[in-house]
Amino acid sequence: MTLDELRQLVRSIPDFPKPGILFRDITTLIGHGAGFSAAIDHLAAYTKEAGGQAIAGIEARGFIFGAALAARLELPFIPVRKPGKLPVPVLAIDYALEYGTDTLEVDPGAVEDGSRLVLVDDLIATGGTALAAVELLRRAGGNVVLSLFAIDLPALGGADRLRQIGVPAAALLKFE
Ligand code: PRP
Ligand code: HPA
Repeated sequence: MTLDELRQLVRSIPDFPKPGILFRDITTLIGHGAGFSAAIDHLAAYTKEAGGQAIAGIEARGFIFGAALAARLELPFIPVRKPGKLPVPVLAIDYALEYGTDTLEVDPGAVEDGSRLVLVDDLIATGGTALAAVELLRRAGGNVVLSLFAIDLPALGGADRLRQIGVPAAALLKFE
């Protein structure tokens, strides 16, 4: 399946979650078996090229793509979780949202020292979430060699912010 065909599988919902926002929704992409599998194929090619040794996925939608990618390549999957979910002592990082802050957590034992990590999420917008995840994984001893997204909203600058901290970023689809 071509990237143009994949693009047709993303649903765009006006005024969600707030008036004026055009929400790019992956529900329809992952709801199409061949489309989902093709998306994972594309992400797998990037991961192999970068020599990724483990996949880190961001809760929740990053788990969908990240876990499928890890299984496809028989690589370890590292969950980067929302707070209070992991049953062991965690490393945590707070990051700014449009209103307020949020937190990401990781089990440091899940990250092998110096391991070449590929960070995966469904979508990058401002990059606040992905930058926090990179910082957290670095503190845990990982080497984030690539970040991958199904969708990039380049007007919001997130992928550029990742590149500025030395993490290459690639996305299957871009929406203005
Ligand atoms: C969405 C998306 C990314 C993040 C992108 O997650 O899945 O993780 O926002 O925005 P940013 O680049 O501006 O940080 P959300 O917080 O809605 O969580 P969910 O995956 O649990 O739905
Ligand atoms: N779609 C899904 N998640 C998002 C979006 C979007 O358009 N913008 C920020 N997070």
